[in-house]
Amino acid sequence: MLKGVILAGGLGTRLHPLTKVTSKHLLPVGNEPMVFHSVKQLTTAGITDILIVTNPQYVGDFVNALGSGKDFGCEFTYRVQEDPKGIAHALALAEGFANNGRIAVLLGDNIFETSIRQAADDFQAQPKGARVLLKQVPDPERYGVAVLNGDDRIVAIDEKPEHPKSNYAVVGVYFYDASVFDVIRTIEPSARGEYEITAVNNAYIHRGELAYSFVQGKWVDAGTFDSLSEAHQILLNASDWC
Ligand code: TTP
Repeated sequence: MLKGVILAGGLGTRLHPLTKVTSKHLLPVGNEPMVFHSVKQLTTAGITDILIVTNPQYVGDFVNALGSGKDFGCEFTYRVQEDPKGIAHALALAEGFANNGRIAVLLGDNIFETSIRQAADDFQAQPKGARVLLKQVPDPERYGVAVLNGDDRIVAIDEKPEHPKSNYAVVGVYFYDASVFDVIRTIEPSARGEYEITAVNNAYIHRGELAYSFVQGKWVDAGTFDSLSEAHQILLNASDWC
């Protein structure tokens, strides 16, 4: 049974002063705290065992907002990331929770117009490896960018490249088999000092084990003021499942 991990740590500095006293993931989007969207994405995909990773100063606020999971039809576990050393660093905290099983990982600031259920089903059907989601964007240099070859394989992911080789951004939803924690142990911090999820995904590419799906509908990484307001509009208009 697939378990879910919502990564909701980080500093959210691009949203200062909104994030001086609270987590980005508790800011209002649509008519709810942002993290509710990630929870509903997972429960809609049939995933009801969910780990929330966040930073020490806000973990109590997450517990107040989300509780045990009873109101969402799921069960929450909480873990604290002491220092925001990157997405792969936050994910490493999920090893005990995953308990040698497969996981769906969501970045808590990624907002989608449509459900990720199909991608979760496709991952369940693949025998091993990992799966990422791609979306064509006008500003790929802001993201991890997937380089696809003719026969539809991802041959590399370039992290925030100055000269992107495609306009396919890797969005903040990742599916991993149990070997992801061994992969994380092998990666080194990047030039900006973070344990990058792109390094993890590139390790799966080298093993020939990274599949992908396309995001249907709108997607936004709500980490800036412009994208936060776009996320708000997306959720106000996307009432069919969330
Ligand atoms: P980012 O937007 O890359 O980082 P941030 O949230 O700290 O924002 P800023 O750059 O404005 O300071 O993070 C993407 C997502 O990953 C976000 O939902 C928070 C999560 N995250 C963690 O859980 N732990 C981390 O160490 C980092 C860097 C991010």
